[in-house]
Amino acid sequence: MDGAGRAGVVIAGAGQSGFQAAFSLRTEGYDGPITLIGDEPHIPYQRPPLSKDFMAGKMDPDSLPLRPESFYEAQRIELRMGERIEAIETAGRAVVLASGERLPFDSLILATGARNRRLTVPGAELPGVCYLRSVDEAVAIQERLEAARRVVIIGGGFIGLEMAAIAAAQGREVVVVEAQSRVMPRVVAPVISAFFQETHEARGVRFAFNAAVTELRGAASVEFAHLSDGSMYAAELVVVGIGVVPNMELAARAGLEVGNGIRVDEYLETGAPGIYAIGDCAWHPNRFAGGLARIESVQNGVDQARCVAATIAGKRAPYDAVPWFWTDQFDLKLQMAGLSSGFDEVVVRGEAASRRFSVFYFREGKLLAVDSINRPGDHLVARKLLVAGVEITGAEAGDPGFDLKTAAASRT
Ligand code: APR
Repeated sequence: MDGAGRAGVVIAGAGQSGFQAAFSLRTEGYDGPITLIGDEPHIPYQRPPLSKDFMAGKMDPDSLPLRPESFYEAQRIELRMGERIEAIETAGRAVVLASGERLPFDSLILATGARNRRLTVPGAELPGVCYLRSVDEAVAIQERLEAARRVVIIGGGFIGLEMAAIAAAQGREVVVVEAQSRVMPRVVAPVISAFFQETHEARGVRFAFNAAVTELRGAASVEFAHLSDGSMYAAELVVVGIGVVPNMELAARAGLEVGNGIRVDEYLETGAPGIYAIGDCAWHPNRFAGGLARIESVQNGVDQARCVAATIAGKRAPYDAVPWFWTDQFDLKLQMAGLSSGFDEVVVRGEAASRRFSVFYFREGKLLAVDSINRPGDHLVARKLLVAGVEITGAEAGDPGFDLKTAAASRT
């Protein structure tokens, strides 16, 4: 495809989704100008290791970038790092940077992601109260963790539990404060929450459930977390992982529809032709959710980027990928395929005692999702079953003699 004389594609946000959009535009044969704009000072890097191997000190920081700088030059992808887009001119088809510079586009991809939800209690701004999303934040936590003996983690979701596992493995005293009654309540069934809670407790992590932090106190930096039940925990480090909110203000200011993210259609296009949204910020029709969804995962960002890149390169197809996620905690790898919300039946395959089992979620007899613990084979088959809409029963899922692979191959 010849890009000469065209304004090209501007990508707002240089996280995993923005990077993938630029990359896939080239692999799809798009030849016009591509500009990738991100407000972090670093070239695009992987976020998942920040709360896993990188945080644990098991990963060379040089392997965080998704590609070396030379890649962007070779692919003629213009990187504008450390820059913010302040406005989108939808009719004028241009973005305006904080510096006032105006960049025209033929297509605009909004990959603005999400930001951490902030704690608003008194003392929340004390030094030593940390969040984790960027590499700079990860390094700041690492430095504090080194010197800390006691760590309070607020939020028992993915970030909170991954942090708890690392801090406990490093011999720190760890307390996790979770607003709801179990860990990872947003995504997994109670049977998995219970299993993860036991694993954490066996390694010394303590939990405070149905609890809220009411105040953080300290002189020069945080020293104590006070909870709603009157209890108090001493801590030299507090890590807050209480979820994220989509970055959609830029889109809203431009008059684009927003709700739980930037509203797009099945082609990931906003109401303004040629302006798309992908990744954590995109509120999109998703058949696995049975309606509109906003999904926070690498899979979703990467697959949506590929979908939009194909559309821009002239191969328009709706977004239809099966959602999947993962988390690593201690010796456990939890892989999730599909979206389990709304399930009315749960079937366990394998034995929790073996530390290798899967949980199948059904609604009205239809398979919704599968969570696998240390059973990567089940996870891969689950993705195939879900993509193809293969019907299996709860009895089959729970029967160790039932061959899932054969079912995935023969029932499509
Ligand atoms: N106090 C304690 N717990 C709270 C509070 C609060 N004030 N507010 C929310 N929570 C709990 C929620 O009940 C939930 O269990 O915090 C947890 C947040 O978990 P997630 O929604 O999984 O968010 P988080 O762990 O912050 O992860 C953020 O990073 O790894 C990715 O996919 C993950 O997109 C997600 C992002």
